[in-house]
Amino acid sequence: MADQTNFDELYKEWKMKTEELMNRFPEKKEQFKTSSDIEVDRLYTPETVDEGYIEKLGFPGMYPYTRGIQPTMYRGRTWTMRQYAGFGSAEETNKRFRYLLDQGQTGLSVAFDLPTQIGYDSDDPMAKGEVGKVGVAIDSLEDMEALLHKIPLDKVSTSMTINAPAAVLLAMYIVVAEKQGVSPEKISGTIQNDILKEYIARGTYIFPPKPSMRLITDIFAFCSKNVPRWNTISISGYHIREAGSTAAQELAFTIANGMAYVDAALDAGLKIDEFAPRLAFFFNGHNQFFEEVAKFRAARRIWAKIMKEKYGAKKEKSLQLRFHTQVAGSTLTAQQPDNNIVRVTIQALAAVLGGTQSLHTNARDEALALPTEDSARIALRTQQIIANESGVTDTVDPLGGSYYIESLTDEIEKKVEEYLEKINDLGGAVSAVEQGYMQREIHQAAYETQKKIESGEEIVVGMNKFTLEDEPKPELHRVDPELQRKQTEKLKSVRENRDQNRVSARLDELRQGAKGTDNLMPLIINCVRDYCTVGEICGVLREEFGEYTGV
Ligand code: 3HC
Repeated sequence: MADQTNFDELYKEWKMKTEELMNRFPEKKEQFKTSSDIEVDRLYTPETVDEGYIEKLGFPGMYPYTRGIQPTMYRGRTWTMRQYAGFGSAEETNKRFRYLLDQGQTGLSVAFDLPTQIGYDSDDPMAKGEVGKVGVAIDSLEDMEALLHKIPLDKVSTSMTINAPAAVLLAMYIVVAEKQGVSPEKISGTIQNDILKEYIARGTYIFPPKPSMRLITDIFAFCSKNVPRWNTISISGYHIREAGSTAAQELAFTIANGMAYVDAALDAGLKIDEFAPRLAFFFNGHNQFFEEVAKFRAARRIWAKIMKEKYGAKKEKSLQLRFHTQVAGSTLTAQQPDNNIVRVTIQALAAVLGGTQSLHTNARDEALALPTEDSARIALRTQQIIANESGVTDTVDPLGGSYYIESLTDEIEKKVEEYLEKINDLGGAVSAVEQGYMQREIHQAAYETQKKIESGEEIVVGMNKFTLEDEPKPELHRVDPELQRKQTEKLKSVRENRDQNRVSARLDELRQGAKGTDNLMPLIINCVRDYCTVGEICGVLREEFGEYTGV
């Protein structure tokens, strides 16, 4: 029989926390009721406590956070509706940002084009054919100012999906905020800044592991002092899953990477509670509804235990795994694209029932092209309908206590722990990546899935079953073919109008810094302020750090 007294005491503590919290975040309604006028309680727990409730579940907003990181969860604040967007020029993307904000989106998320992500300017031969294609082209501070035009950076939080050159884009964001009169302490957002998953799955890396980890921990150190509300890394499982991993592998490899970043920061002399509260995560919202819900619940419990027991973190925020979810792009079909609206809805619902803090819902046409404005709106409306019409946000962790969910949560936790042990035996995540371990595991899982789809064992509606002979061609988004020329002209004028002596001096200071051990963030901020370009800054770092050529 579990300790009922302890349960009662913890329950009382949780009640006090909710009352306290509601001063800052009063719940959205006085009373939550079903359509049959049945009152909906904030939280449902077993009448008499069964074995393991306290140790495995506990209360929301309290260790081990299995049931959610906030005591009142979505009754207090809905997750951030944060649609990933970006294409063409900064001006075009700014227009889409403002459209989505007008349609009720509550956070921004920037998609950069590949040249920006790999540190090349739009006029670099390496950029040919890619400028503005999979994201927005950002070459200099001028583009960043256009991207964020009329967006109040003290009010809107912005995620930037940028990894190798994350320090450069963060520096630009800080300077644009300054120009708006918003000090660095006031801005909030996230940079993805997770290089290990780039080596494992996504591929937009530039520098070798060691200098990359230095840049990452420089950002941790700089932001913990100067940009306290900024999430300095979004440790990502999304792309690992998109590359074909299982749910357990997605979680295990992401957590292993998270531990590698913690170790690197501690080795750089940072204190755990200085930087850990601003570590964030990013997971995939995939098929297998209940497994996904269990994956998110297990993630919180595993990370809380690691931070408390392995790293001795004391601050509550250091123990809380906060995450963004993007539903699975890889499950979208080019066939019968409207079917994707249903897939996205189910996957988004799993993320919400799993307690996500921020959510991106894919558009129906993204297996074919970047989303049209209509498709992007439907994707956002999907979230708004879940939030405002389904009732699932009226109580905390509604699936908690389900025999299936709790068993799946335990099973996933067990599998993750086995993988973490294996990775530990290989010397940790960095060494496991260098040995290609995670990559091999993912490729094997991807191969198994592909075989099941090709044999028809795994049904993909509209693709290998319930197909249509000839389908109407949907209207698709098109990127301006003139963009590379226009972007090159813009870049030329930036170079002609800036103070070239200052630019050379800034880049030289950066080079000296890269040779030394000082924090590079202040030097990179000086560079962007004088309109040094992404390509020039990354060019200096390439020369000093070298380039990673992969496993
Ligand atoms: N009660 C009380 N307080 C609450 C609350 C509640 N119910 N809910 C939220 N709050 C508070 C929080 O504590 C927080 O306060 P703080 O700033 O003082 O800590 C504030 O309200 C904001 O809440 P969150 O921090 O939970 O929400 P955010 O949206 O600001 O942050 C995040 C969420 C996951 C921590 C953050 O890292 C984030 O936004 N990540 C997004 C990452 C992203 O969008 N990535 C996209 C990548 S696209 C990609 O890579 C795919 C491509 O490659 C194809």
